[in-house]
Amino acid sequence: MKKKVAVLYGGRSGEHEVSLRSATAVIDGLKSLQDIEVLPIFVTQEGSWELNGSRVTVLPDPIVSGLYFLDGARTGLTVTIDVVFPVLHGTYGEDGTVQGLLELARLPYVGAGVAGSAIGMDKILMKAALIAAGIPIGDYVWFTANGWQKEQEKLIAEVETKLDYPCFVKPANLGSSVGISKVYSKQELEVAVTKALQYDRRVLVEKLLVGKEIECSVLGNDEPKASLPGEIIPSNDFYDYEAKYVNETSTLVIPAQLREQTISRVQQMAVDTFITLDCAGLARVDFFVDELTDEILVNEINTLPGFTTISMYPKLWEATGIPFSQLLQELIQLAEERFQEKSKLKTTFDS
Ligand SMILES: Nc1ncnc2c1ncn2[C@@H]1O[C@H](COP(=O)(O)OP(=O)(O)O)[C@@H](O)[C@H]1O
Ligand SMILES: [Mg+2]
Repeated sequence: MKKKVAVLYGGRSGEHEVSLRSATAVIDGLKSLQDIEVLPIFVTQEGSWELNGSRVTVLPDPIVSGLYFLDGARTGLTVTIDVVFPVLHGTYGEDGTVQGLLELARLPYVGAGVAGSAIGMDKILMKAALIAAGIPIGDYVWFTANGWQKEQEKLIAEVETKLDYPCFVKPANLGSSVGISKVYSKQELEVAVTKALQYDRRVLVEKLLVGKEIECSVLGNDEPKASLPGEIIPSNDFYDYEAKYVNETSTLVIPAQLREQTISRVQQMAVDTFITLDCAGLARVDFFVDELTDEILVNEINTLPGFTTISMYPKLWEATGIPFSQLLQELIQLAEERFQEKSKLKTTFDS
């Protein structure tokens, strides 16, 4: 019997287009595996799920666990699935919402669970968790839309004394550099905060980090392993949306040219970050590494990193000895293992 893997892609997020690209690679890769049948489920920009033109969903009820047809000849029927692979970046996919639905439906899925996804997506919560675990990160200031409205001058003063210019303004929950600005003055800061607040009600401002922009892939559940690190050399002033996906002239250096000792430290910090944020399956941890001062700071984690055949996540594994199709196979297996472990846990209390 072939294993049925439902691949969710597209989605209700600013990173819809990016997801389409990742999904093409994942779907093609899974199709090349003997023991897997792929069910590609396109999630529209509005959030509907479509399988071969029929609207489907999963119900938050384990008894009818599987894909439930909402229209067409099979209305009301379910087909079983073995594993879900959410290839969704950003909101309603990488942030714990889809993961919550899959938990309620009692379906195994690739990647971090509800808490890991939500914390990994929220740059403010992520930083709080990393600080608590003693993992080094850069300085920052954060506030809500309400706080900005009431205490704008005080917050600007805090940014100027604690962080200085240039600094980075980001919405708390987003990816692919959407809504992010590098600002060089008070005036630009105000414009950038207004822009970021269009994407989220919470915003953070970060100190400019220097050195090489280094990324490291992590794979596993309780004993995750880290790949060789890679370096991003952005073609624009920073690695913004255009540099990532539009002009595509940024350079990936794989593996990154770093000292042995720096590589080991990056790998250890990537694993520590993965465990601290309660990740599972996969994640890519991004750093700024300054070999002059020996400072290594975590910038962010991506619990569903870009997954095209030329994306950093699979490329780093390839350089570390795990080819694309084997990577997919391992991810499916990790999803099943974690599901089985979780199924063994007690859900009732007997004294
Ligand atoms: N504090 C910082 N210092 C220097 N560059 C930064 C900083 N924060 C972000 N950047 C640049 O902006 C890009 C996008 O920011 P990032 O935090 O990775 O957001 P996203 O989740 O959208 O990828 C990074 O890849 C990097 O080039
Ligand atoms: Mg990033």
